[in-house]
Amino acid sequence: MTFATLLYAVADRIATITVNRPDKLNALNDAVMADLGQALAAAKADANVGVVVITGAGEKAFVAGADIGELAKQTVIGGKEKSLRGQAVLDQLERLGKPVLAAINGYAFGGGLELALACHLRFASATAKVGLPEVGLGIIPGYGGTQRLPRIVGRGRALEMILSGAPVDAATAERYGLVNAVYEPAELQAKVRAFAANLLTKGPLAMAMALESVLRGTSTSQEEGQRIECDLFGIVSSTADMREGLNAFLEKRKPVYKNA
Ligand code: COA
Repeated sequence: MTFATLLYAVADRIATITVNRPDKLNALNDAVMADLGQALAAAKADANVGVVVITGAGEKAFVAGADIGELAKQTVIGGKEKSLRGQAVLDQLERLGKPVLAAINGYAFGGGLELALACHLRFASATAKVGLPEVGLGIIPGYGGTQRLPRIVGRGRALEMILSGAPVDAATAERYGLVNAVYEPAELQAKVRAFAANLLTKGPLAMAMALESVLRGTSTSQEEGQRIECDLFGIVSSTADMREGLNAFLEKRKPVYKNA
């Protein structure tokens, strides 16, 4: 598959989506968001894809934010529609049903951090910087950042980042629980691929249901979340993959999952 603004490649059952506007530090314009929606749909539909990795082209940036040139032209209605379109693409990402890992290889600002926040796990290069600088531009985060960041780092840290607009370095982001791990820049992509390869040995349906349980459960009450969990636990018990996983353990062999 080819896209004007993204690189899309599948190797060893890992789809890598690389935002590819390095001369603009991979800023998210409308074309990137439309391409991203299509690339995610392709990754979801491809039975040969078990994990998705999202990263940015070039040495400097993951994604340096929404495209400020486009933002400067927006109207009231246009701004709301842009936010809704972006939120829809990042919701699509979050609900892909396959693990999505962000490899944050440099600046992740504004919409770039919001893209990373919609991913299920985030790994950063030691040189990365992340932040939500929008209030410094007279706007607010519009791709889910005001909702996802507090759910990941807590309201106090989230408001500190959103109100100050100040970026934090990778080590601080790891301390906040905002990124899962930090690696040397030269090692980042290999480490993320190794993490992804390990996920490919797990039950794909089980991972999809675990994702659904956590994502739906954390936006409701604990009681309701546990209902969701037990319903999904019941559904997973009906799968051939569950029998395969448990029998493989009892028979002291590696499971072979069929996503069924
Ligand atoms: N939207 C559009 N273009 C962007 C951009 C964005 N969010 N971020 C960077 N660019 C462009 C720059 O305008 C520049 O383009 P040009 O060469 O045509 O002038 C190019 O990318 C390189 O950026 P530059 O600022 O020269 O790189 P730098 O290394 O000096 O600084 C940053 C890097 C990330 C600190 C700086 O680009 C920046 O502050 N970007 C905006 C970050 C932001 O506020 N994002 C949130 C938007 S809501």
